Amino acid sequence: CGIIGILGREAVAPQLVDALKRLEYRGYDSAGVATLENGRLTRRRAEGKLKNLEQRLAREPLAGLVGIGHTRWATHGRPNEINAHPHAADRVAVVHNGIIENFNELRGELEGRGVRFASETDTEVVAQLVAAVMAEGFGPVEAVKAVLPRLRGAFALAFVFEGEDDLMIGARRGSPLAVGYGDGEMYLGSDAIALAPFTSRISYLEDGDWVVLHRGSVQIYDEAGAPVERPVLTSSASAFLVDKGNFRHFMAKEIHEQPEVVGHTLAHYVDFAAERIVLPDLPFDFRDIERVTIAACGTAYYAGLTGKYWFERLARLPVAVEIASELRYGDAPLAPGNLAVFVSQSGETADTLATLRHAKANGQHVVSVVNVPTSTIARESDVVMPTLAGPEIGVASTKAFTCQLVVLACIAIAAGRARGNLSEDDERRLVRALTEVPRHMTAALALEPEIEKLARDIAKSRDVLYLGRGTSFPLALEGALKLKEISYIHAEGYAAGELKHGPIALIDETIPVIVIAPHDRVFEKTVSNMQEVAARGGRIILVTDPQGAKEATVESLATLVLPHMPASVTPMVYALPVQMLAYHAAVIMGTDVDQPRNLAKSVTVE
Ligand code: G6P
Repeated sequence: CGIIGILGREAVAPQLVDALKRLEYRGYDSAGVATLENGRLTRRRAEGKLKNLEQRLAREPLAGLVGIGHTRWATHGRPNEINAHPHAADRVAVVHNGIIENFNELRGELEGRGVRFASETDTEVVAQLVAAVMAEGFGPVEAVKAVLPRLRGAFALAFVFEGEDDLMIGARRGSPLAVGYGDGEMYLGSDAIALAPFTSRISYLEDGDWVVLHRGSVQIYDEAGAPVERPVLTSSASAFLVDKGNFRHFMAKEIHEQPEVVGHTLAHYVDFAAERIVLPDLPFDFRDIERVTIAACGTAYYAGLTGKYWFERLARLPVAVEIASELRYGDAPLAPGNLAVFVSQSGETADTLATLRHAKANGQHVVSVVNVPTSTIARESDVVMPTLAGPEIGVASTKAFTCQLVVLACIAIAAGRARGNLSEDDERRLVRALTEVPRHMTAALALEPEIEKLARDIAKSRDVLYLGRGTSFPLALEGALKLKEISYIHAEGYAAGELKHGPIALIDETIPVIVIAPHDRVFEKTVSNMQEVAARGGRIILVTDPQGAKEATVESLATLVLPHMPASVTPMVYALPVQMLAYHAAVIMGTDVDQPRNLAKSVTVE
């Protein structure tokens, strides 16, 4: 979804709509604006495309000088006018991106106190909470400050208040939000594209920041409430189209976008209120499928390898994961009527496309998981399951990978339900775990300073080993690929149990060994493998959770501790430290991170 907010000097509604047009790529099932008309908040909202809102505003214009606008991609609640943003309660109106995880709980609490809700959205809970604090006599700033710590999840918010013609408040946790500095005007936008025509002076809020804007001043606070300064950047209008924000490289920006884009992708497949998976209509029944073939290249192949574990566990469906260029010329028998899944960021990879055609010719139902919905692979598939990662510019795939994981997990859960292997409760539990992923990703990103230090050690190494078991095994492969691709340091990923069958011969004190080991059912086994490494002088970097850190008695060079989370979602979150480690190693090596030598983003040759 897209957010825009303007504290202007003339009627802001036309500018809000103008900004929403540029944000329409982020979601377009409904849209709305609210401005302050003679001290009163007045909203105009419309279902469907932005032009419906425009027509509405042409008939019933708004004259306010301060306002917020939103273009929505439905998460909680159907895409109708009632659920469209802004949401309002008493003297406050708010627009929101992302997910408020604990909205059911908060809504129950408010309803218990007699609050009546107008919509089904998680956003209205925020408006009602702020209104409730204001009803106790607090001002808008105090009310927002009091409410933010009560919200769980990854999100961005923009507020305006009745009777407050010179005030707008924004907050960011997980989802991006930028402040635009005008001349006697101030702006908030979910990305620089929204702000481009208004100003070229922009500050990106950091995670946990919130901001109080007046026409003549901006004050940013950090999560703890301390006033902070964030750099004001000047961007040229053309730079806005593919903008790096505060980051040195697209890859860094894309790594940091993951809480948001994973949230978008989830919203496409999850009914958060019912805690269910909702897939597009399928021309087959999962009960009739006997075998799934997944084919892809590179990072997408590793997403597929992870998917295998989920399909087999959750849906009891046997899966073969194939490198597309191998399947293409191999002789794998494909019994007609089975399912073939193709995973591709670009949707144009020549080998993947060729295997798709091969599978089709062999009577497979063809499902593709792609990031570019207009791509050839998407067009030639029976069913397209989009990842909503947004444009990925860095050649080394990051956010597309985690979004691919989310989509594969959703398909596996839906298959598990359809095949009677998962109960309604199982589905609810799994969906809840997925819903928490953006928040855990935000926690993972906070490890960056520690990771940057470790990267200095990695950058000095000639070889690096990555180990993992279960779903952490494909991640070990992906970690090694990331490092190789962008830092040119040789790296290998292994199933931890395979260590003793060869790679252990490589271990000496010069080799960093990165062990990806959440405290899951194979944790102890991985610890044994770590011991084998430690006994030979290998330097271990352990990526785990609090319980894992406690139980891993092996001496390690460093331990990166992620939050505890259900085993079903560890690959999505553990991907982030692995990506950051490769990124920082490459930055230290001084390579061309976004365009590493010899590689291409979209490989349309064999
Ligand atoms: C190239 C890219 C990789 C990517 C692979 C598959 O090699 O450098 O990052 O994983 O292609 O691309 P696809 O667009 O099919 O996901």
